[in-house]
Amino acid sequence: MKLFTNLGNSSSLKVLIAAKFAGKNVDLEVVKVDDERFQKPRRLPVFEVDTHEHIFSTNATCNFLLPCKPELSADVNFWFDWEAVQLQPTLVRCIGSKFDNQQLMKLFSVLDGILEKQSYLVKDNSLTVCDISVWSTVYPVLTDAKISGSFISKYKNVNDWFQRLMELPHFKDALSVFNVGEGVSCLQSIASAGWFPSITVQEVSEKSPTHQSSATSLTSDVSGNIKPATDAELKEVKESWNRNVPIKPKPAVSPVLPVAGERNVLVTSALPYVNNVPHLGNIIGCVLSADVFARYCRLRNWNTLYISGTDEYGTATETKALEEGLTPKQICDKYYEIHKAIYEWFNIQFDHFGRTTTPQQTELVQEFFNVIHKNGYTSTQKVEQLLCENCDRFLADRFVEGTCPKCSYDDARGDQCDGCGHLINATELIKPKCKVCQSTPVIRMSEHFFIELPKVEKEVESWFSEICEGWSYNAQVICKSWLKEGLKSRCITRDLKWGIPVPLPGFEQKVFYVWFDAPIGYLSMTKCYTDNWRSWWEYDEQKQVNLYQFMAKDNVPFHSIMFPSSLIAAGKKYNMVKHLMATEYLNYEDGKFSKSRGIGVFGTDAKETGIPSDVFRFYLLFVRPESQDSSFSWIDLATKNNSELLNNLGNFINRALVFVEKFFDSIVPEMKMTQDDYTLLVYIKREVSEYMNSLDRGKLRDGIRHILSVSRHGNQYMQSTKPWFLVKGSQEDKERAGTIVGLCCNISCLLTIMLKPYMPQTVEIIRQQLNLASELYVLTNDITMFIKPGHKIGKPVPLFTKIEQSLVDDLKKRFAGKQQESDAKNNKGSKSKSKNTTSSQKKQSTVLNVVPSNDLCIAKLEEAIAKQGNLIREMKASGQTKSEWQPHVNVLLDMKKQLEEMKASVPSVSELEDKIAKQGDIVRQLKASGVPRSEWQPQVNILLNLKKQLVDAQQAKYD
Ligand code: 2FM
Ligand code: ZN
Repeated sequence: MKLFTNLGNSSSLKVLIAAKFAGKNVDLEVVKVDDERFQKPRRLPVFEVDTHEHIFSTNATCNFLLPCKPELSADVNFWFDWEAVQLQPTLVRCIGSKFDNQQLMKLFSVLDGILEKQSYLVKDNSLTVCDISVWSTVYPVLTDAKISGSFISKYKNVNDWFQRLMELPHFKDALSVFNVGEGVSCLQSIASAGWFPSITVQEVSEKSPTHQSSATSLTSDVSGNIKPATDAELKEVKESWNRNVPIKPKPAVSPVLPVAGERNVLVTSALPYVNNVPHLGNIIGCVLSADVFARYCRLRNWNTLYISGTDEYGTATETKALEEGLTPKQICDKYYEIHKAIYEWFNIQFDHFGRTTTPQQTELVQEFFNVIHKNGYTSTQKVEQLLCENCDRFLADRFVEGTCPKCSYDDARGDQCDGCGHLINATELIKPKCKVCQSTPVIRMSEHFFIELPKVEKEVESWFSEICEGWSYNAQVICKSWLKEGLKSRCITRDLKWGIPVPLPGFEQKVFYVWFDAPIGYLSMTKCYTDNWRSWWEYDEQKQVNLYQFMAKDNVPFHSIMFPSSLIAAGKKYNMVKHLMATEYLNYEDGKFSKSRGIGVFGTDAKETGIPSDVFRFYLLFVRPESQDSSFSWIDLATKNNSELLNNLGNFINRALVFVEKFFDSIVPEMKMTQDDYTLLVYIKREVSEYMNSLDRGKLRDGIRHILSVSRHGNQYMQSTKPWFLVKGSQEDKERAGTIVGLCCNISCLLTIMLKPYMPQTVEIIRQQLNLASELYVLTNDITMFIKPGHKIGKPVPLFTKIEQSLVDDLKKRFAGKQQESDAKNNKGSKSKSKNTTSSQKKQSTVLNVVPSNDLCIAKLEEAIAKQGNLIREMKASGQTKSEWQPHVNVLLDMKKQLEEMKASVPSVSELEDKIAKQGDIVRQLKASGVPRSEWQPQVNILLNLKKQLVDAQQAKYD
């Protein structure tokens, strides 16, 4: 047995110490990091059991050398995982920066908390192999002259334990055999020769270390141990494994149409605006999520139609056209192609990807309007509008600029002032100007159509209460808040040129509001796909259709209120959304995606990174902002790729196939299944059931975790059965090895099927390596023998590539934004009012200084006003002269003006949501603490008030 290591790599220590404890002789060979024997994968230390068998994980090596008692293995494995997945990567990340970061402190606190209560990591009062592992990993920190001081004083228990172990002869011996030096330079040796595994799989809690990731919780008991397989479960898998045959998917038909008596699923993703390049947050919010779901439905053999396309009308397109000096039509054509290419690269499998600027759309929208109008669900109202006589058109808010009526800022837009942050009405602007020709517009009355939502309110309400259970939670909340507030009539026409004309005499110059026409796009795009489009959209008792709509949460009001209202007002029974699946937002690193500031990864950039689209798909789904905002981070993407894809999933499949190739001439061997093998199948079957359960409910994040649990089971099975030893033993042993790898090939096939919705290109590669027919199999709850003995597999090749730290650094820099750079430039050269910098800076300062502290400021200001008033009254009462009290009155007037402005300022939707969440916590805590109502009621009132403000703000946003 031999250990290969690079110089100073303190990870080698744990292996040497474990060997000493086990009384085993391990030779040591110190090699260079670029020694070509250790490049695939590039990793040191490597433990050589014999010339055929190498172990790449130091913890697995320790376990091999010094196995722990079976009853302790769950705890030991927990600490192994913790060390490999959390502690070591965190430490490696600290190299070159600070060691007092929060994440590391958190991990040390956990350790300290445990060691305060017990002498060793596993509560048995004796040293186990995981102490050795963790000890070696904290070694660089606690021996570093510069940084250990603060750690020792903060984490006394850790240090006591560390020093105690260091005194043990086996530890001393190991250090004398391999002198790694001291301090954090050891970490550099680790980093230069290893990969860094995943960091944030689970939250560590001081109180209860859990052994399993959350995805396996339903298959394990409260303390995280896997629930033993029951006799019934074993019986079931035995039967299905030996009797059932895998089901082939039904042949693809075109067009796909709903079929009576079968499950028919219509999937849509929100139609992305055509005036922008979508970023990764947009992509996961709609098209990618819908794609994974649609692929899953096809995998279940359901009749599935996935429709999407670009949303092309409206002011946003006109603005973009002006910006780029093109016509709106040219903008649409250009960006439609850009969107299409991006989605192709991401392998989004639309059945039809259409556009809203088609004759079919115009015809349908006008038809809908005519019916709604005829049915009496419209009204007209006259509204004031700015008309530019020079350009001969009414000006949308963003086409006007002028002086803000509130703060006199002279560069205010028609919808909002960047100077003071107020939302304003374009007609209130002082000295308004047409943005295009700079001439002064005039105010004209313009008549518009409104849809009478109050008339359908009752129906919307009862429909919603019947079906809302199948919606994502956020969608339910948003819809409820709109209904609670009561529906109001809403304007559905605009004085624009780029849109679908209103088909009524006297209204020829007007077009429909983009949000009236866009959702009808789902229908018109289906019409472009098939003449039989009505069978997907019109209710038919015989051919029921389940409509799933995917979108980000800002689209919810339109899909839950506006569009269903239009459908109801149109009088026919349509298939309305049954499952409204809304995501929260995806952030980029620590902030927001911003096209204008060049921050974040946009669809067109993804391709340029050299990272395969499947890896982007996997990662975006892994961090899908399902119940709260989440973040895209390069380091996290790299660690998930390196640990989950490469080390877990890819490693399992590759190991199984290489084994069959090498020892069984690429022929899947006979399988004589034992109780252990069926037990493994029981565990895997549970994951498959959970996977299906999750995906049925649109929980796409969890689906991935169940896939990874299956391969983790597979890896553990291989690790514990060790076919590489068996294959060199007796005939019986060799047969056993055959069963093990035959089973692993079958699990690889199952994994391929489960991966189909998420990583289509990878699936194709594995399928070829397994040498299976292109259509693969349908996913069912059954574990069957997918690959029979005698089947010849193809050529196994590693599936994933490591993402190096250097690439992470490079990508982080590349997409960090041009903001700082351009700010620096703008500030250097001139003091003049550079439009972009000043307005964005001003806007930021308004947002930072006024809005978040609004409530506080208002209260303080009111208090100050009261005091000032008293002061003036006293002055007057005491007979002081006007010249004496007037300056104080002026101050008072100023303060009152300020107060008025503050009260009028509307905080943003997301700020309000934050406040509501925090206020909710306050109320819950108060109630839970048992204080009387008189104490919590005022806080409830604040909460209610905030909620009201939110509804207003949401409404304002969509006006
Ligand atoms: O938010 C958006 O990108 C909109 N274009 C979504 C429209 S969805 C549908 F209703 F058309
Ligand atoms: Zn003009």
